[in-house]
Amino acid sequence: MVDLSRRKVLISGGTLGALGALGVVTPTQARAAGGWTWPASGSVAGTGTGADPRWVWDAEADPVVASLFDRGLVPQVNQLLWDWNRNGQPLPDGLPENLRDFIEHARQLPSWADRAKLETAAQFNKSRGLYLNLLNGVGGGMLSTAIPKEARSVYYSAGGADMEDRVAKTSILGFAVGALNAYRPDGNCIVNAVKTRLTHAAVRHLLPQSPHWSGDIPISQEDILVTWHTLPTYAMGKMREWKIPMSAADSAAYLHVWQVTAHLLGVRDEYIPATWDTANSQSDLVLPPNMGPTPEGVELTDILLRQLAEQVSPGGVGRPLVNALARFLVSEQVADWDQIPREPFWEATIKSVWPVLVKVREGLIPLPLVPSIAWTVDEALRQYVLFFLTKGQETKIVIPTGNRPS
Ligand code: HEM
Repeated sequence: MVDLSRRKVLISGGTLGALGALGVVTPTQARAAGGWTWPASGSVAGTGTGADPRWVWDAEADPVVASLFDRGLVPQVNQLLWDWNRNGQPLPDGLPENLRDFIEHARQLPSWADRAKLETAAQFNKSRGLYLNLLNGVGGGMLSTAIPKEARSVYYSAGGADMEDRVAKTSILGFAVGALNAYRPDGNCIVNAVKTRLTHAAVRHLLPQSPHWSGDIPISQEDILVTWHTLPTYAMGKMREWKIPMSAADSAAYLHVWQVTAHLLGVRDEYIPATWDTANSQSDLVLPPNMGPTPEGVELTDILLRQLAEQVSPGGVGRPLVNALARFLVSEQVADWDQIPREPFWEATIKSVWPVLVKVREGLIPLPLVPSIAWTVDEALRQYVLFFLTKGQETKIVIPTGNRPS
């Protein structure tokens, strides 16, 4: 009960303060008192060191990438890896030996990966593609800008200066996870997850050198878990809230594809939740202390919503609808932190037509019963998805060579 309420407050809806008013000891307080309290028995490893992931980074990737910077090899490596695209594709010749060894190891699926579950997940991702793209693209985007450490990292890294390119690159991994052949030899999820892992290692090397950066080394294991929960955990919560029909096998498979992806992104198995229950309890532990407003997050939100509005209706008239949809996807609290403008008309419209659109999609009501304004919302959704889809086709993930130019 406590867990569910906490989660709803931040990533689904509800009002902050309700638990405090009841005098309930929250997971946040439990953590502050006793370090990392999430039990590794709830992880895919089933056991762990108990180390607090706030102070764990990526012991395998970080030294390798730092050595590339020290030797001035990043541009050359990027060139060599440009045409390394498919999971089953051999690595190109000419890579530095330590990088080759790292990638050969990092590209292996974990022993607990289940091919049959990955195939079920691929089908599920396809059949629920619209919801998932909306939730992971727009919803996840709005949540990530309300995570101060992530917003600042993104803002002050190279990608912060060109959000269009940044969105495009990030959507590459989103679509790779959702593809039918994601983890088959001809798919590209392994490649893009490993390239992302290298990119994160580069950010850990570069950002502390930025004059704008203060604080710890970015992108700890805890930070990755936080973002991870804004993707599958949040999306599953929303799909349940929207009463999307789903079999137990589908929901388990959807968790599985994200467990495997977390592993490939360098998250230690002792932190990867084994079940939705343990995922939810971990989400409740790590999200509240890691969310809040920042000027950088507000600016990034505005840029993202402006881009989406341009896509939905060139000329910018679609911005009120875009604002309302973004507010609809996250809690009031997060929308306010991100300073997403309120749009009373469109917010009320989306609230009333959304359940109808879901029912139409699920074949539960006939088309004539759908009010015509619902199609305006539906068309906006389609344009959103197209936006992320087309952007991702224009570019590839490469290791950044510097920070945001100041
Ligand atoms: C880069 C995904 C967690 C900060 C990327 C890229 C992807 C990605 C696909 C490559 C695209 C690009 O280069 O722009 C993810 C996923 C995460 C995650 C799936 C968790 C499940 C985080 C966290 C932070 C972060 C926790 C910071 C706290 C960054 C930054 C870049 C990046 C700064 C590089 C941007 C640049 O090129 O300048 N991430 N990320 N990411 N990520 Fe993450």
